[in-house]
Amino acid sequence: MTRIAFPQGFRWGAATASYQIEGGAREDGKGESIWDRFAHTPGKIAGGESGDRACDSYHRYREDVALLRAMNLGSYRFSIAWPRIQPEGRGAANGAGLDYYRRLIDALLAAGIRPFPTLYHWDLPQALEERGGWPERDTASRFADYAVLVVRALGDRVSEWMLLNEPAVFTQFGYGLGIHAPGRRDRTALLRATHVVNLAQGEAFRAIKAERTGLRVGTAFSMAPTEPESGKSADAAAAERMHGWLNDWFLRPALRGLYPECFEDGLPAELDVREGDMERVRAPLDFIGVNLYSRMLVRAERDALGLGGRQLGMGGFEGPRTDFDWEVWPDALHDMLMRVTRDYERPVIEVTENGCSYADGPGPDGVIRDGRRIDFFRGYLAALHRAIQAGADVRGYHAWTLLDNFEWAAGFGQRFGLAWTDFATCDRRLKQSGEWYGRVAAENGLDPEAEGTEV
Ligand code: FCB
Repeated sequence: MTRIAFPQGFRWGAATASYQIEGGAREDGKGESIWDRFAHTPGKIAGGESGDRACDSYHRYREDVALLRAMNLGSYRFSIAWPRIQPEGRGAANGAGLDYYRRLIDALLAAGIRPFPTLYHWDLPQALEERGGWPERDTASRFADYAVLVVRALGDRVSEWMLLNEPAVFTQFGYGLGIHAPGRRDRTALLRATHVVNLAQGEAFRAIKAERTGLRVGTAFSMAPTEPESGKSADAAAAERMHGWLNDWFLRPALRGLYPECFEDGLPAELDVREGDMERVRAPLDFIGVNLYSRMLVRAERDALGLGGRQLGMGGFEGPRTDFDWEVWPDALHDMLMRVTRDYERPVIEVTENGCSYADGPGPDGVIRDGRRIDFFRGYLAALHRAIQAGADVRGYHAWTLLDNFEWAAGFGQRFGLAWTDFATCDRRLKQSGEWYGRVAAENGLDPEAEGTEV
């Protein structure tokens, strides 16, 4: 048996997001978010579901902490709902909103778990969307103000923060494709939104550092290695452009003050880059968060955006598929971590999300046998270990997700959890994968060969 061991002090964790688990949509002064509005717009969410109650973590967060403890985890990535702190997206902080996160954080600290919050995991205050949303430049300053209010209140007990979750996804899905909140489909709005989000990242980074010098700040980026569909050089060039647009569009501006050269005709004018902006977008992040699920195959093709390429679904066509139709491809994690390591001179990395959707539920004996999820994690963790051996400076790994929750446009239909959530009662219970993951965390290693179906 060739066990693999992770570096001493490596952090094992799990991730969630406010709108996906909290519920309490209108409690204690919380304002409306673009996701509240979008989910209540007929036809947007599978089954007409919403996050109004979700997993009820707003009231049952202690049970979430108990699950983390049961799995021996040392890090919990969660997000803070901006409209709980600023119901209208501006002005003084709502004390009751901050108190909720203070209670959660204190429960984590008491359990010896690192609180690892994300400031923005997609729930923009609706009031800001009504003033233009992310395409509006003022939203960058609003975000920086909000970030300062949060770290002023909670920065005494939390030292590592993420600014944004998956800026490429929320701008493209929300303003380009219209399949996520706020549901707009507008090329100009999309391009402008990406630039404003880059400004927001730079401004909030500086504002947080000015407020509390010792904090460490990063962002969680959606990433997937882009591979050409064929051996043709046109496909290879298209794959490289797609890498710029999907993986690097919010990272290169932060670390280098430059946009990747991924548009066939140069930087689109609609980005509206103004004098001084490329200094303002800079944010020398203390760590890079990588959210990764699969790889991406790319074909050279004309497209409306001007990238000269198209992504062929989520993943390639060789590996097995999860219930979300994403390809299981462990090498993707290794390859992406190595590319970031090469391109940015070995930065500190945290894997901030990685996981899979399988519907496996309780058997007649109540046991949840989700061996396919164990196999998934085993494969990706082995790939992560290879990347660390090859020199990637990865400090932690967060499984997506702690418990089955509201999976955005897919509603409650996709289960990514290490714990099963009964959405009728909001009761949660570890799946076999959760028990397995708990042993990996306790032992700081695993046997990469074993079959996943037996625990
Ligand atoms: C990521 C999101 C996360 C979750 C997973 C499945 O894109 O960051 O909230 O929905 O996908």
